[in-house]
Amino acid sequence: MRIKLDNIQHSYHDKTILQNLSLQLDHAEAIAIIGPSGAGKSTLLRLMSKIETPDRGEIYINDIDVIKSEANEYYKKVGFVFQSHNLFPHLTALQNITLVLEKVHNKTSEEARRLAIDLLTQFELVEHMNKRPSQLSGGQAQRVSIIRSLAISPEVMFLDEPTSALDPILTREVLRTILKLREKNMRFVIVTHELGFAKKAADYILFMEDGKIIEHGPVSILDKPQTESLKKFVEYVME
Ligand SMILES: Nc1ncnc2c1ncn2[C@@H]1O[C@H](COP(=O)(O)OP(=O)(O)O)[C@@H](O)[C@H]1O
Ligand SMILES: [Mg+2]
Repeated sequence: MRIKLDNIQHSYHDKTILQNLSLQLDHAEAIAIIGPSGAGKSTLLRLMSKIETPDRGEIYINDIDVIKSEANEYYKKVGFVFQSHNLFPHLTALQNITLVLEKVHNKTSEEARRLAIDLLTQFELVEHMNKRPSQLSGGQAQRVSIIRSLAISPEVMFLDEPTSALDPILTREVLRTILKLREKNMRFVIVTHELGFAKKAADYILFMEDGKIIEHGPVSILDKPQTESLKKFVEYVME
């Protein structure tokens, strides 16, 4: 996956959150964005997934000019799962998945149902497929939300804390799925506070603090941080 961020600036109510953020990556398969709470990780993910537009700067994902791209076209190529799932409350788990497949990807209802049930089975959710989001646990709803994004086979998936509501076994399931999909050329940008998960799921690390990218490089930088900030962060999180 190629990513280019050119001088991104972004504010909320006159408070500058991201400042002069630039980055160019040509070969990452899965990028983990790590850093303390409030660093601007989720904000950067929203900008890359075109949920928000930066005040200034340019963003290219696989050579697509994200800011200038047509939203509907862009959303056919990328998927995203944010911290709080955004399932349609009036639809069942199954319908939440098949709707997107039928409407956005023109699958027949039969194809959509088959694909959805396959994925629901893989994530041990098939017995809950007729429940609505309010009848699911947080972890179950989050997995349905992940499946819904996966079902359209996007080029790139943006995940914000995908394991925050999951127990260790389901976290492993998400990890396994990411690694499997990486082999099928799906690419990932994952915000996570779990360094162990970042190390296994990603091949590239972006460490952010105070709205800036402080250090980035292959996952091995976690074992040998170059900056005092990342060193402190790793020590603190590992404690
Ligand atoms: N919608 C918003 N409105 C106002 N401030 C926001 C909004 N989203 C994020 N912020 C602020 O931007 C900063 C970075 O937030 P965020 O990107 O969520 O950080 P992280 O994901 O690293 O914890 C925080 O100070 C947060 O309070
Ligand atoms: Mg966040």
